[in-house]
Amino acid sequence: MDLPRLKIGDLVAEIPIVQGGMAVKVSTAPLAAAVAEEGGIGLIAGSGISTDELKAEIRRAQELTEGILGVNIMVAASKFKELVEGSIAEGIDLIVAGAGFSRDLFDMGKESGVEIVPIVSSARLAKISEKLGASAVVVEGKEAGGHLGTDRPMKEILEEVTDAVDIPVIAAGGIIDGADIAETLQLGADGVQMGSRFVATEECEVDDSFKELYIDAEPEDSVMIESPVGLPGRALRNEFYERLGSGEVKTGFHCDYICLKDCSRVYCIIKSLIKAKEGDMTNGLVFAGEETYRINDILPVKEVINNLVDKAKSLLNQEESIDE
Ligand SMILES: Cc1cc2nc3c(=O)[nH]c(=O)nc-3n(C[C@H](O)[C@H](O)[C@H](O)COP(=O)(O)O)c2cc1C
Repeated sequence: MDLPRLKIGDLVAEIPIVQGGMAVKVSTAPLAAAVAEEGGIGLIAGSGISTDELKAEIRRAQELTEGILGVNIMVAASKFKELVEGSIAEGIDLIVAGAGFSRDLFDMGKESGVEIVPIVSSARLAKISEKLGASAVVVEGKEAGGHLGTDRPMKEILEEVTDAVDIPVIAAGGIIDGADIAETLQLGADGVQMGSRFVATEECEVDDSFKELYIDAEPEDSVMIESPVGLPGRALRNEFYERLGSGEVKTGFHCDYICLKDCSRVYCIIKSLIKAKEGDMTNGLVFAGEETYRINDILPVKEVINNLVDKAKSLLNQEESIDE
């Protein structure tokens, strides 16, 4: 038996795998398009780039695939509305929105016919999203890389959310291999969203040293950092993290970006993330999920997805034959 397809409104993905949006050009066109080409859903991140850059990135991806492409946009971004409108104008298939909650977004989805998928960390927000017209929800647990809206494990929240809503539920956080996918689907998820595993792919456009930090990570290297967004973030331990902890990072800086509606100015998140993406592993902030230490190789997306699907399928089929 094949893995179940993932239906999000009018969209049908052949495999229930979403590649999560990753800010400051960690998830760009080549990665998103490669995942979409394999039958999954590829997300281009709209955080830390201008609306024109995001629009160009969407067009670049559309030239590479006719598969399903979405964007991930942070509600906390100062240009949130403009980024959403720009993505809609480029004919994006879906919009995934995290780091805050926007009621206006649902109206924009209804008017344009674009599927809206909020990231939630509670059954309460999932229910509100369903009522407002969400096509699906992403349930993100504390294991996920990047900004976090909860300190609870994904599996705990997943159960509550699948009980509370009838729309598709996509689980995110700590999913690395096919066994994780099989387990998550058995727990009631309709699909999974994965970030860290897709960083360690040939198509991901981060510097090689960023990917190598992932491959070399040990379990104790997963750390929580304070972010100017006002949410905690999960990253990998490095010199930047140590300096932040000891208060050595400069605050009250001059801002070139005005990227957030409300910034605490503890440090510049965009500059720190861009530094890491470009290979400065000393001064950059390296977002990564809690289970990153389980990633041991950098592979083409096609191979990653084949491995994920083969393993998940064989485990689910085994389970089915035991049940018969
Ligand atoms: C490097 C990196 C950057 C991320 N940036 C964003 C982002 O801009 N917006 C967002 O909603 N999630 C972001 N995430 C979260 C992912 O989209 C995804 O939900 C998460 O990585 C899932 O957990 P996993 O890394 O354990 O697979 C980021 C994750 C990573 C690893």
